[in-house]
Amino acid sequence: MTNGTPGGTVIIDRMMREQRTVLRGHVTRYLEAGFGEALVLLHPFPLSADAWRAQLEAVPRGWRYIAPDLRGLGGSAINGGIEIGMNDYAGDVLALMNALNLGRAALGGLSMGGYVAFAVHRLAPERIRGLVLADTRPQADTEEGVRARVTSLDLVRGRGVRALGEQMLGKLLGETTRSARPELTTEILRLIEGNPQPGVEAAIYAMMRRPDSTPDLAGIRCPTLVIVGAEDTITPPADAEAMHRAIAGSRLHRIAGAGHLSNLEAPADFSTTINGWVESLHQ
Ligand code: MLT
Repeated sequence: MTNGTPGGTVIIDRMMREQRTVLRGHVTRYLEAGFGEALVLLHPFPLSADAWRAQLEAVPRGWRYIAPDLRGLGGSAINGGIEIGMNDYAGDVLALMNALNLGRAALGGLSMGGYVAFAVHRLAPERIRGLVLADTRPQADTEEGVRARVTSLDLVRGRGVRALGEQMLGKLLGETTRSARPELTTEILRLIEGNPQPGVEAAIYAMMRRPDSTPDLAGIRCPTLVIVGAEDTITPPADAEAMHRAIAGSRLHRIAGAGHLSNLEAPADFSTTINGWVESLHQ
């Protein structure tokens, strides 16, 4: 990540660009790669747009992949209160699409990114050309889940973002990754630590207050791809199968040997799958 001012473009490598713009009063950082039709990728918690680097590096010809840091996370600022909701993030995503003159775009979200995608779909389904729902679930938090969020808030406030990351890592990654690729643990912790504390607290508020999106599933009419890591214990394959059954015409792809962060744990499989799916939108 680099510091920058809104409007400037930083070329990170041959393909990837880092941009900043002001959306609804918040400086917003996003990464993008490729040129053409847009797929907006929404990251999981407690990560940032950098979680999508492998997918941006593999962007297919004719497509532009755009990954914003959600408000307060990565290099995006949060101004004002931190007690936000999913609609605040969803409004930011629509504002980014407006700023980039994207009337319609494909939208993909992993875990919390999926919760945001459901909120965008509720607000403006006509703006969504297709949906990727990866390692996510439509249900709201249970009472027990809300209590766990309050504990997470206390942990972040008392011991900082890294402590939360250390506590979550065991659940975020699948068994195969933990044993075969321990270096990924360090890399993910580094990404988590890059998040300012107010943004992490805001995301916890937004997740614990999110509505149940289950009743919306039957109304999803756009092409939809559901992806799940076979070893995901946070949003397990059974949740993905139920979503797939509830969304008419959706496709389901399981990624062997990956847990909750399937795009980071199995980047080649994930990228091949979404790239094949975006091409299918043309047919
Ligand atoms: C995420 O990966 O975005 C979070 O684990 C989702 C959650 O805590 O519900």
